[in-house]
Amino acid sequence: MNILLTGYAGFIGFHLASKLIKDSLIKNIYGVDNLDSYYDVNLKKSRIKELQKIDTNNKLKKFTFDLKNSKKLNQTFKNIKIDVVINLAAQAGVRYSFTNPRSYINSNIIGFFNILELMKTKKISKLIFASTSSSYGSQSITPYRENLMNNTPLQLYAATKISNEVMAHAYSHLYGFNSIGLRFFTVYGPYGRPDMAIYKFTDSIYKNKKIDLYDSGKMLRDCTYVDDIVEGIVRTLNIKSFSLKKKCNIYNIGFGKPVTVKAILNQIELNTGKKALVKILPKHTSEMNKTYCSTLKFNNDFNFKPKVKINDGLKNFNDWYKSYHLK
Ligand SMILES: NC(=O)c1ccc[n+]([C@@H]2O[C@H](COP(=O)([O-])OP(=O)(O)OC[C@H]3O[C@@H](n4cnc5c(N)ncnc54)[C@H](O)[C@@H]3O)[C@@H](O)[C@H]2O)c1
Repeated sequence: MNILLTGYAGFIGFHLASKLIKDSLIKNIYGVDNLDSYYDVNLKKSRIKELQKIDTNNKLKKFTFDLKNSKKLNQTFKNIKIDVVINLAAQAGVRYSFTNPRSYINSNIIGFFNILELMKTKKISKLIFASTSSSYGSQSITPYRENLMNNTPLQLYAATKISNEVMAHAYSHLYGFNSIGLRFFTVYGPYGRPDMAIYKFTDSIYKNKKIDLYDSGKMLRDCTYVDDIVEGIVRTLNIKSFSLKKKCNIYNIGFGKPVTVKAILNQIELNTGKKALVKILPKHTSEMNKTYCSTLKFNNDFNFKPKVKINDGLKNFNDWYKSYHLK
């Protein structure tokens, strides 16, 4: 199988690429990433180095360009056979969208549209793409099930991801390819994203920096270890299209047990052996009170539920942080 994987140098893309490199059914992985500077580019380069170490058969072909460049995208893959596209590239993050909204439109709307056009012109049969738990917005019925209305996003980031889901539906309906959108719930783990709470808390504690804790840490987050997310993506990759009832599907992938941000911070304090310096701030209007994943639909269709418990995952993260930053 030949795969086009966008965002391969990103957090989840890197972990997925590591797994696919070792998978004997995968022949080539065409990785695209623009190595943007949303967070430390050196972390992306370190991930690429790790991939090079394990890629002894040269399965991963790397391309550095922006998905909004449709000409480059089409020319690059003109004569390359692709069986599945996995689109993880996106402008992620919530707060960044207040100051850089255009970046979300460029990557998540125009970039995603270019991927859909590529699906159409090259007659690629399957698209798997990243959506988000943020798409549930102000929805208050929990756990979040995929059939809940999701037209009340609280930030532009979520609005662009909901747009991806409906754009994919239209293209899948018109041009007949299978499309699977995956709503990930707060992903964490080694080589994670420095803009996300678990990384930020750990980093600030080790560096004796103050942590901004919103709403006294009362918000609830359903945190999912990256290996479980990768396993979920691989299940969707391997499923035969006829075993799914619809051509276009949306699934949650999340652990299914929310914890308070304060509890996460307390556990990080235990792992680091240090007390956090905390500055309490009011809750921002863009923040959801709670994210809580229903795991039923994914488990029904793919016979898989995330397994890694938060305290085990946080310990792995802390071990990685120490080996990467403090050696
Ligand atoms: N990490 C999470 O908790 C989480 C939760 C829900 C959804 N998601 C989604 O999962 C996907 C992967 O997230 P991640 O945490 O690995 O983020 P990430 O930022 O680490 O990875 C995204 C990668 O895509 C690249 N990229 C961004 N825009 C691009 C463009 N226009 N052209 C080419 N490359 C581009 C970036 O350089 C980056 O390496 C994203 O779509 C994100 O929105 C992540």
